[in-house]
Amino acid sequence: MIHCWRLDDGRQTLVLASRRDRLPECVYWGAPLPATEDLTTLLAAHAIDITGGMLDENADLSISPEAVRSFPGQPGLILRDRAGTPLLPKFCLAGATETAGRLELTYEDAGNGLVYLAEFVTDSDTRMITLSAEIRSSAPVHLHWMAAPVLPGPQLSDEMIDVAGRWCGEFQLNRTPWSPGMRYRENRTGRTGHEHFPGLLVPCRGATNTQGEVYGFHYGWSGGHRMIAEELPDGRRQIQFGHAVRMETVPGTQFRTAPLYITYSSDGLNGCAVAFQRHLRDRIVRLPQPERPRPVHYNCWEAVYFDHQLPVLMDIAARAAALGAERFVLDDGWFGQRDDDTRSLSDWQVDPRKYPDGLNPLIGHVHGLGMTFGLWFEPEMINPDSDIHRAHPDWALGAQDQTLGRQQKALNMALPEVRDFLFDRMAAILTDHEIDYVKWDHNRVLPMPDAAQTRGSYALIDRLRAAFPEVEIESCASGGGRIDFGILARTHRVWLSDSNDALERLRIQHDAALFLPASVTGSHVGPRRCHTSGRHLDISFRAWVAAQRHMGFEMDPRELDDREAAVLTEVTRWWKANRDWMLAADILRLDSADPAVLAEQQLARDQGRFVVFAGKGATSAQIVPRPLRLTRLDPAASYRVELINRQNAPGLSRGMPALKSGPVTLSGTYLMHHGLTLPWSFPETMWVVEGMRL
Ligand code: DGJ
Repeated sequence: MIHCWRLDDGRQTLVLASRRDRLPECVYWGAPLPATEDLTTLLAAHAIDITGGMLDENADLSISPEAVRSFPGQPGLILRDRAGTPLLPKFCLAGATETAGRLELTYEDAGNGLVYLAEFVTDSDTRMITLSAEIRSSAPVHLHWMAAPVLPGPQLSDEMIDVAGRWCGEFQLNRTPWSPGMRYRENRTGRTGHEHFPGLLVPCRGATNTQGEVYGFHYGWSGGHRMIAEELPDGRRQIQFGHAVRMETVPGTQFRTAPLYITYSSDGLNGCAVAFQRHLRDRIVRLPQPERPRPVHYNCWEAVYFDHQLPVLMDIAARAAALGAERFVLDDGWFGQRDDDTRSLSDWQVDPRKYPDGLNPLIGHVHGLGMTFGLWFEPEMINPDSDIHRAHPDWALGAQDQTLGRQQKALNMALPEVRDFLFDRMAAILTDHEIDYVKWDHNRVLPMPDAAQTRGSYALIDRLRAAFPEVEIESCASGGGRIDFGILARTHRVWLSDSNDALERLRIQHDAALFLPASVTGSHVGPRRCHTSGRHLDISFRAWVAAQRHMGFEMDPRELDDREAAVLTEVTRWWKANRDWMLAADILRLDSADPAVLAEQQLARDQGRFVVFAGKGATSAQIVPRPLRLTRLDPAASYRVELINRQNAPGLSRGMPALKSGPVTLSGTYLMHHGLTLPWSFPETMWVVEGMRL
């Protein structure tokens, strides 16, 4: 019996088909197929030949490839029974439900007492397809590996792009050529990690930021993932995503993958980036007050670290407010005996030595300045030197003699008493104080990957969110160590990196925009001399880089001289005037002809306006700037373009490109096919061009 199902969202079609009631294969995924396409013929046309040295039938590259059918690559599901004997699942169709935009498939393996469910959900606004799988078993089983529904990799693709990174160097793109065998990424750190953002982009030959076909994948899970991109001996390619293997540490009768988000683009990496950005912003992140403008942050970490002195903090708050800040975030150091990072995590009570009258005098002062108040926590962590560890050493996760990370252990979040304790302590602080924001940190990896830990963290956040629905949460983990759509389903902003070095941030932001919209991406103006790189950068560059995303400040404002304060105030004013449309805009990475220039175009949802940020990271090889092509404009429309910071042109820019003297009106065709001719500039500077459709 043949079964066929098709999913369409206007930009892509995905066809699943199967023979003999077996698990279906994705027999087509790409540009929209005509409504008249005969899917049975398509299934037949999809079959590959058999020649010498092959089995008599090619095993299906199904949504969960089955080892028992001699599949020549990695299977989609690896289970053992309670005694440890491997099971070899072999599924047969038991039911299918199709409703608008949703397909649910149920398969049974009566011999092994297993049921496999797969779900596919389309979204014709965001062009994201969300996939997940579940396994149910009549008797407890050990789960070793379960992939979300498996997809074929494109054949006209020479390489894949996945994401690595490090502390202060998040979102580094790796390009790996396809070749026989596997590209295997597995994150066994127990958190998403700086090193392992769970994303993959597979460009077809010739694709760039702005053109060509690209397939995008993101696994929305914060506990560590596994990715397999495998070329089989017969040339077919498969892509699998799931939790890291053996993360389920106890036998069970039901397991589910996290959502796998996939999208096909026919207009370059940007097509995938826009789908991820929109889906995250419009479908996943739920802001308590969506209509409220995103406030400019001030975070005191790099100003005072653990040295909290009320008069100093009050002075800093006043200066931050004068510069334009709208939310003051009190970072690490306010609780227990937290004078450095060796102690007190878990002792979530205000330090009376630093705050003899509690936090309310500071909060009142901050409110009086017109700012809201945010507070730092690191809930999942405990220092051995803490009252709570002395009272409950058994609450810590992992062996007693484990290697510490930043002098701390993780709490065992699977224990209900640990979650209750954390909820009670945090709820007490949130009840007793007017706090609208929690910066939620997570500064070490886990001693071992454990899905129950991630579920425990999610449960605690969900419970706090339900109890304090007005409080926003930022996901931080030594910077960008916990960024994924799983954590962002319950938080509202990410601390992208501990690097406030604008030069590094420019690059990190640019690459993170493949998945993240500006609205969730925190970006702060750091100190004149960056604390993590030692680099000195001018305030103008620092301010414009922060203005590309959700803007904030993190330097000690007492270090600013008059010029710096004036520049920062001015850029902040500009950001506030533009934030509403910019934070709902699409970030489009531009194909820069000059590798020294990282450029992006933020295009308003109604396409009536845009802003281009062209950040110059290094000295160019050629002597004058190469034109910068824009994208996704209306070729026939005219645009008024203006270099808004043209007064920053240095004396060495001696010529007169038109943009230096004022606004210019140009067609979309010209802007996309020739591009903007910008003035010469120093490295570590940013040109900012506003465009308005006439
Ligand atoms: C790591 C974070 O990334 C920093 O921003 C800061 O909050 C520190 N932790 C505090 O310990």
